[in-house]
Amino acid sequence: MLDLTLLILAAGKGTRLKSALPKVLHSLAGKPLIEHVVEAALPLSPSATCVVVGHEAQQVQRALAHLGLEFAVQQPQLGTGHAVQVAGGFWKHRQGDLLILSGDVPLISARTLQRLVDQHAQSNASATLLSTRLVDATGYGRVVRDAAGAVERIVEHKDATDEERRLSEVNAGIYCFSIPDLAQVIDALSAANSQREFYLTDCIGLLREQKKRIGAFLCEDAWEVSGVNSRSELAELERIVRRKKLKQLMEDGVTVIDPESAYVEPSVQVGPDSVLYPNVFLEKGTVIGASCQIYPNVRISASKIGDGVVVLDSCLIAESHVQAGSQVGPFAHLKSNTVIGSKARIGNFVEIKNSRLGDKTKAAHLSYLGDAEIGQDVNVGAGTITCNYDGVSKHRTIIEDGVFVGSDSQLIAPVTVRRGAYIAAGSTIDQDVPEDALAIARSQQVNKEHWARKKRESRRKE
Ligand code: UD1
Ligand code: CA
Repeated sequence: MLDLTLLILAAGKGTRLKSALPKVLHSLAGKPLIEHVVEAALPLSPSATCVVVGHEAQQVQRALAHLGLEFAVQQPQLGTGHAVQVAGGFWKHRQGDLLILSGDVPLISARTLQRLVDQHAQSNASATLLSTRLVDATGYGRVVRDAAGAVERIVEHKDATDEERRLSEVNAGIYCFSIPDLAQVIDALSAANSQREFYLTDCIGLLREQKKRIGAFLCEDAWEVSGVNSRSELAELERIVRRKKLKQLMEDGVTVIDPESAYVEPSVQVGPDSVLYPNVFLEKGTVIGASCQIYPNVRISASKIGDGVVVLDSCLIAESHVQAGSQVGPFAHLKSNTVIGSKARIGNFVEIKNSRLGDKTKAAHLSYLGDAEIGQDVNVGAGTITCNYDGVSKHRTIIEDGVFVGSDSQLIAPVTVRRGAYIAAGSTIDQDVPEDALAIARSQQVNKEHWARKKRESRRKE
């Protein structure tokens, strides 16, 4: 078993993204770039992990605080070699090997890293770098090999001759170094190059000059080692991740009407025979059951949807749970831990927040239900509003099983409507309603006979 220490370079600004947000915090498939990198390396069980931060260091550290890693601060950022120098206190005294990853190469897989590390261990090399072949290698460092095919050095695109630029094998920015060997050359780097930076890549040439053995592990899947340097590269990777996810879902029995316009994060699960229509967004670990239909323009985030649920067009469902056989939408908004029972119906323009609705309950049109506890078989009439907020605090509305709430009623919380009661349409309810009672809370109607006709006649005379 290799003694592996992990160093992730993440101090760069990402100038080409033209962003106030540090590059490694830009999101790919719902997660910051750097989290993808950390997750890929975890299965290799490194004995310690350090992230080199610099540009907006505190912001990056805060974003990674939950992962329990170490940090080294590189200020100013004078290149990838300088980043490794600055972190010397973290790695130089350790035994074994140093795996160096780039915070901006997010799609690297644990499998490829394992193969790189295995080859490194078996070949007894001083350094093993990860390379790949690209049709368009613009911007990448090229791997220069000698006549015998052994790795000689890496030349950065900006420093390369035309002939070197024609080389298609590129450096992925991922390396495994023997710690004592790297320690010997890391301080010998020079910034005498076109970017006036200390290149980590020069360590390869320096080790080679010392007759050390250099290996390269060629990664067949070029996309795995694509770096993110611009917004278009970010979009390109997003597309790759998305396609892969949709392909997997389709293999698992999900119908995706148009894979070009379905957006499903890798953390999401969808059961077989479910159908995803165009422009559906499924995010943040959402779990969709079997045989569901998710119609166009729906976004579901951090939610659970039971089997056989139909979500009609243009709904937003966040942090909520819809149980089996229910129908939601069109144009419904569920949020903040809302739970909808089974075989329920939530219709047009209904907003439900932090509420629980029982099985077979209906709220079919134009309602706001907030902080409510609603039982089974309840009919919530069109336009019903829970008045849950008094300007200072939120209050609960309780509606028990079998209640019928007439249209355009307001329920002023805290208030309880007991089992089987009726609320007359247009009522403003501010007192509890007993079981099986009828509550009418609206002003009495007065009909003034002939009033309208007389009004018209008097106008005509003027
Ligand atoms: C680097 C490699 C290049 C390789 C490419 C692969 C060097 C000199 N070049 O180029 O050979 O083909 O990656 O993607 O290493 N960083 C720091 N401190 C710094 C500069 C960078 O921590 O001072 C970090 C960045 O945050 C980033 C990583 O190092 O995560 C790579 O830096 P970047 O500037 O993107 O290097 P490339 O030009 O892409
Ligand atoms: Ca890069």
